[in-house]
Amino acid sequence: MENNKGQWSSNFGFLMAAIGSAVGLGNIWGFPYKMGANGGGAFLLVYVILVVFVGFAVMLGELTIGRKTGKGAVGAYRALNKKLPWVGYMGVGSAFLILGFYSVLGGMVMRYMLGFLVNLFGGAGFAAEGFFGSWIANMPGMVGFYALFMLLNIVIVMGGISGGIEKFSKVAMPALAVMLVTVIVYVACQPGAMEGYKFMFVPDFSVFDSLKSFFDVLKSAAGQMFFSLSLGMGAMITYGSYLSKSEDLNTNTIIIPVADTIVAIMAGMAVMPACSAFGVEYGAGPGLLFASMQTVFSHMGSVGNLIGFLFYLLVLIAALTSSISMLELCTAYAVDKQIEKGLT
Ligand code: ALA
Repeated sequence: MENNKGQWSSNFGFLMAAIGSAVGLGNIWGFPYKMGANGGGAFLLVYVILVVFVGFAVMLGELTIGRKTGKGAVGAYRALNKKLPWVGYMGVGSAFLILGFYSVLGGMVMRYMLGFLVNLFGGAGFAAEGFFGSWIANMPGMVGFYALFMLLNIVIVMGGISGGIEKFSKVAMPALAVMLVTVIVYVACQPGAMEGYKFMFVPDFSVFDSLKSFFDVLKSAAGQMFFSLSLGMGAMITYGSYLSKSEDLNTNTIIIPVADTIVAIMAGMAVMPACSAFGVEYGAGPGLLFASMQTVFSHMGSVGNLIGFLFYLLVLIAALTSSISMLELCTAYAVDKQIEKGLT
């Protein structure tokens, strides 16, 4: 079924947008820490098995449903079965809620990136350590940057599929890869980095000793997989609905999770060794991204401003390419409704 909602102009553009949706805050602040705290290499093993046996199948299913029906999540499930739109509504609802907290974090990332940029040019972007505590108490600042981040999302999504999301992702994702490699190489050259690699990678198979700890690892890896691959909300249904019928879904289904997992491991190779090299607690969640990492960059001396700027810019790109897929998912619902009413 063809639609008049726009299409990806190339398979590469689709891949950059879909990988962009998958690669996000979940890869950078979730994956490395969960890996380290859940048996390192043992967690990676469970994660990869889940991606191979569950992730690929769900990804292929979502992309197929999207391309076949040419609709967003709600319309696609309705096209499959008149009793199923509730599955799509749950997806749109989840995306809307995730977008809410994601945009707050995106705004904070933007504030940190600008802070390092201002420092880089000799200004006072922020007083390095302890900034996190004062910033989260600064309501007007938080709301302002949240609004700025949302505005960026709206501008990109308003550009359309090929003119907005695809155009942005085609530039942003390769740039993210280059910046990530730069940070990894710099961090790898620091004494003490090895401890961080050990925290992440050394397998601790004792997590498989008891059923409880095995299920803890399984739960953590499964949650991470669905979140990181943007599965279950209908993001891949929506992106699949803009894909040309001539593109090979099987190959795309393999490339997206493989790229997402590689970026997650690479993000860990930037973050964890940086913490160990500069004697900073690994931390978890917002603490890792906004307190531990900021302390790391302040300990690097003047080069910390450049590395900090690059790091937060790449995190911003990762967050944006994911949040635009959630906004597009919600937008597609409204657009499908208009099309049904014959308004477009
Ligand atoms: N897939 C996105 C992430 O990992 C939501 O952050």
